[in-house]
Amino acid sequence: EKDGFDTFMLKEIHEQPRAYRDTMRGRVSKAEQRIDLPDVKLAPEQLRQLKHIQMVACGTAYHAALIGKTVIEQLTRIPVEVDLASEYRYRMPIVREHTLVIAVSQSGETADTLAAMREAKQAGARVLAITNVIGSSVARDADDVLFTMAGPEIAVASTKAYTSQLIAFYLLGLHLAQARRTLDPVLQAELLAMLERLPQQAADVLGQAADVRQLADILTGHEHLFFIGRGLDYSLAMEASLKLKEISYIHSEAYAAGELKHGSLALIEEGTPVIALATQDRLLEKTISNIKEVKARGAYVIALALEGNTEMAKTADRVIYVPRTFSLLVPAIAIIPLQLLAYYAADLRGNDVDKPRNLAKSVTVE
Ligand code: M6R
Repeated sequence: EKDGFDTFMLKEIHEQPRAYRDTMRGRVSKAEQRIDLPDVKLAPEQLRQLKHIQMVACGTAYHAALIGKTVIEQLTRIPVEVDLASEYRYRMPIVREHTLVIAVSQSGETADTLAAMREAKQAGARVLAITNVIGSSVARDADDVLFTMAGPEIAVASTKAYTSQLIAFYLLGLHLAQARRTLDPVLQAELLAMLERLPQQAADVLGQAADVRQLADILTGHEHLFFIGRGLDYSLAMEASLKLKEISYIHSEAYAAGELKHGSLALIEEGTPVIALATQDRLLEKTISNIKEVKARGAYVIALALEGNTEMAKTADRVIYVPRTFSLLVPAIAIIPLQLLAYYAADLRGNDVDKPRNLAKSVTVE
């Protein structure tokens, strides 16, 4: 059942191109240049009236929601707040009129996410769920459901569920933009075309597994390292850091690159690994200066950059390249080498990758 892979996690990482296609199937109409989400019952008029979005989730699903925030805000200009479900449920959240709450959960059974949804409903919000499990509690409790079609995820460390959640956010963002007419039709057509190329680009990135394994070998001797990034790369850094921690047991921290000077820079010593994510053209120069700052303190920098970025090879010690696409879509490709990095670091350390210590796949108690 592992299809020839050593572990479920490696199998699931490799299933991502298929999961992207399945999550888009029947929802992206190229001929008509539009998105159709039949399960989302919100009428166009209701979509137009929305004034606020709040998202609740835990762990990796929370990291997907952080990317979702940027996607929805950029495509629709609707302000989005993202909360950890365990915080939202106890913070007496303010739910104003025309608020949509989006709950994100692979399993659909996470106790805190369910409780946060209930809290939101009681306060009068309409709740839309993004989940991978049909018939799950989250799916049943929500007013609308957008299913990710990742297929069963067995490994404790979430991979294909996370990226399918990103695809779901692209679809939802475009669906909202359509109803609210916030996107130029030419840009919308370009985005749809780029979205459809993602599965192939993801497959291309998977071809770099052997190179990533070599980089993982550099990390295994360290007990502590940093991920840095700005904008979407910061959200991506959080997910990459969680993945590495949960299976390799190497401590890491995700830091907004612009915040380094406000404290964490003090921890950089000769040889400290820093994984610098620099996939957003608009922020590239800023991130490059941060890379120079950590290098000047002795950091060993592994950068993640877009193909054709010649400057990065001169700045970082090692570079992983990912194919170019529309900036909002890059995280769905860029996370793949970072998942592989965590995977190989854990594997090289001899850990049980699919069942990391102290963790369960589904967290059904608080
Ligand atoms: O099933 P859910 O998406 O609600 O699960 C949320 C988290 O427990 C989950 O993403 C967890 O953080 C993963 N082990 C991360 O790989």
